Amino acid sequence: MDKKWWKEEVVYQIYPRSYKDNDNNGYGDIQGIISKLDYIKSLGANVIWLSPVYKSPDDDNGYDISDYYDINPKLGTLDDMKELFAEAKKRDMRIIMDLVINHTSDEHPWFIEAKNNPDSKYRDYYYFRKGKKNGKKAPNNWSGYFSGPAWEKIEGTDDYYLHLFSKKQPDLNYHNPAVLEEVKNICKFWLDLGCSGFRCDVINIIYKSSLEDGKPRIFLTGKEHYVSQDGCHKILKEIRHEVLDKYDCFTVGESSEATMDMAKDLTNDELHMLFCFEHLNIDIIGAPVFRTKFKPWKLNKCLTKWQLNFPWNTSFFECHDQVRVVSRYGDDKNYHKESAKAIATLQFGLKGTMFIYEGQEIGMTNVKWNSIDEIDDVSTHYVNKLLKSLHLPKKLSWKLLTNFCRDHARTPMQWDDSINAGFNEGNKTWLKVNENYPTINVKNNLEDKDSIWYYYQDLIALRKSKEGLIYGDFKPVKANKNLMVFERIYGEEKYLVCVNLSKKTIRHNLDTKGKILINNYKKENIDEVLLPYESFIIEK
Ligand code: GLC
Repeated sequence: MDKKWWKEEVVYQIYPRSYKDNDNNGYGDIQGIISKLDYIKSLGANVIWLSPVYKSPDDDNGYDISDYYDINPKLGTLDDMKELFAEAKKRDMRIIMDLVINHTSDEHPWFIEAKNNPDSKYRDYYYFRKGKKNGKKAPNNWSGYFSGPAWEKIEGTDDYYLHLFSKKQPDLNYHNPAVLEEVKNICKFWLDLGCSGFRCDVINIIYKSSLEDGKPRIFLTGKEHYVSQDGCHKILKEIRHEVLDKYDCFTVGESSEATMDMAKDLTNDELHMLFCFEHLNIDIIGAPVFRTKFKPWKLNKCLTKWQLNFPWNTSFFECHDQVRVVSRYGDDKNYHKESAKAIATLQFGLKGTMFIYEGQEIGMTNVKWNSIDEIDDVSTHYVNKLLKSLHLPKKLSWKLLTNFCRDHARTPMQWDDSINAGFNEGNKTWLKVNENYPTINVKNNLEDKDSIWYYYQDLIALRKSKEGLIYGDFKPVKANKNLMVFERIYGEEKYLVCVNLSKKTIRHNLDTKGKILINNYKKENIDEVLLPYESFIIEK
């Protein structure tokens, strides 16, 4: 296995508006991040992925960019960003940025010009098409990621434009070579300024092969025309060869709906690794709002498939689009600490570059929402409209909505038990603070040697100290359906990783001889019966 620095590192994702609000305007900011670099470093993470900080009207919190070369004034300035790069470098840390190039904001000057002036060169930067039936019907039957049609009509004309996300996020047209040139320049600008790579937003859907009608589906009608198309591979290779390979950087591509074969193509001389979501879709039926009970064996089956068949990928359970993992695959009520640590053991036992999300290191949980007015997430509002139109019982609608709402992961970081969890000095916050902050916060965690935080710190240090935990092969071990057990093998090195993913006590007959490197119950010997959410790594 090829050794690379980015395989060995732990990446810590920051959702900037939720991290630390130093100027007390209600939004986390770049200065806030700078003030927490030592904190992140002390956890053991040396790379930070910043969700978008670019200028944006914030329809989708920065994933709708109106200027790729400037910073959202709510979050700071370009000078703050330069300071962040410099302060990170001083600490031997790196920053990767979010590259959002499937779409721009509808307030980007390109789009404004394109919309107002059909003869402008920018018209062909996007997909403008005449509607069918004299403009009464959209140009095709595609539906968008946030539900509803993927086309928006331009008032007073028969024309529509394509948007696979919100209507304020028009899709760029990569059939036009000028668009790719713009993207290369954006990449170079940030790499030259000091960034070490990109997390590439919904990167495998940027190229639309055709605008024909799609096969009708519950979710994403039309996807066969844009998921991982040949044109996309060509573009990614070009960006890799002409830009990325000239820098010491890496990319991680968010790949939507990618099969194993697609993922293999996307990492063949294109992206360095991917975020694939199959392991976070195991409790979903058909569309993200429909969720069932978590079944550990399903997670095991899915992770095992990817670990065995995909040479190098990411290992992650959280990000700004997912609900909190301790509330989803763990038990945030009865086994908060134990299950958060069990999931951490699983994540760090697996092969791949580690990505953790702000707050995961203290076991931040889902939020109790009282009404739709408390929710900011644009996709939740779209889905709310859809559910309303279906006239489902209110209670059911609310359950569906709050089961998937992305704001669970976006509430302000819980630093301490002071006002607003120490996120700011007590001014309003852009999204409400989770009410459990007096007990779940960084300060409490740092005062308790047995906390989730220290467990993450130990796991990170452990992984860095054992090459086999980074580069070792993955070998599944058959066990009870609620356990995930595997070995990592690297030359003479061998490790046994075992995680009870349930609240049941489980009798096992695993060979547990060896040195216990980590165990979330701090046992000196592994008993024949595993406790709820017990997990360990043993060096054989
Ligand atoms: C990605 C982002 C998500 C955003 C979407 C559109 O999935 O992670 O937050 O809404 O792309 O840019």
